[in-house]
Amino acid sequence: MEILFKNVDYIYQPNSPFQFKALTDVNLKIESGSFTAIIGKTGSGKSTLIRHLNGLLKPSSGEVKIGNLTITSSIKESQLSDLRRKVGMLFQFPEQQLFADTVEHDIEFGPINFGTTKEKAKKIARESLKKVGLNDEFLNRSPLELSGGQMRRVALAGVLAVKPDILVLDEPTAGLDFIGKKEIMKLIKKLQLEEHTTIILVSNSMEDVADYAEEVILLSKGKVIKQASPNKIFSNKEITSALGIETPQTTVLAEFLLERGVDFKGSLPINEKSFNNFLKKIFEEKKKTRIL
Ligand SMILES: Nc1ncnc2c1ncn2[C@@H]1O[C@H](COP(=O)(O)OP(=O)(O)OP(=O)(O)O)[C@@H](O)[C@H]1O
Ligand SMILES: [Mg+2]
Repeated sequence: MEILFKNVDYIYQPNSPFQFKALTDVNLKIESGSFTAIIGKTGSGKSTLIRHLNGLLKPSSGEVKIGNLTITSSIKESQLSDLRRKVGMLFQFPEQQLFADTVEHDIEFGPINFGTTKEKAKKIARESLKKVGLNDEFLNRSPLELSGGQMRRVALAGVLAVKPDILVLDEPTAGLDFIGKKEIMKLIKKLQLEEHTTIILVSNSMEDVADYAEEVILLSKGKVIKQASPNKIFSNKEITSALGIETPQTTVLAEFLLERGVDFKGSLPINEKSFNNFLKKIFEEKKKTRIL
């Protein structure tokens, strides 16, 4: 399902002394099956933007189109139920999404809520738990007695159990250790590649954005500053430094080498893979000149 924002404004607590305009004239397009990262400093409107994707927030003005559904300020709750099944959302601090007495009941809740039989939901719970790298032993445990990383995985399993077409993740790896982060990111990428799930990721890790995203939406003060490939975003020093956006470590290293005369031919590497490709090219060119 394609996602389209047209002139979207969002105002928190309108007509009150606390009124705050969190999104201003947002226009963007997210292709079906793509992997899009949303980045920007704290308070730039990332969580506000993604809450529009399952109708949790409705635009104050403008419209959000998701597949055939158009969401405006006047849409009724009853028109959103189908969307809520298709868009899975893992909130910032997903541990707070867990509420049932056991892990199994927690994961089963979504499928049962959407009309799946208890028996089938049990099967789905096992499969989803396996997908996030936890074994059956966790099924009967209380979500409250798990570690932070395990809770995060269980919350993700609960979202995957509904088999969403669009998966929206708000900083899913924040606070996890290096291995835990990598495992979750690989799993998310696998969902995109194998199940063609559209992935929308809010992230503070520019390494993750450079490694996994195909498209980046850069927000500042509730406005879309730029939508482009990670390569284009991170090589645009003017924008990244003006907005205080970190660049991936590889790009920092490449900039250091650039200042010392290394010619990257206009495009700085943003991750290990593109850096390795650059090195390979250099070695091949060196070999050729030696043969001549
Ligand atoms: N319920 C609310 N009432 C009023 N203002 C709010 C409310 N929720 C968020 N805001 C404001 O809207 C702006 C955008 O908030 P949002 O949570 O979307 O930012 P964010 O980019 O997700 O930040 P972070 O990186 O810290 O998660 C912030 O200035 C915030 O203070
Ligand atoms: Mg946020």
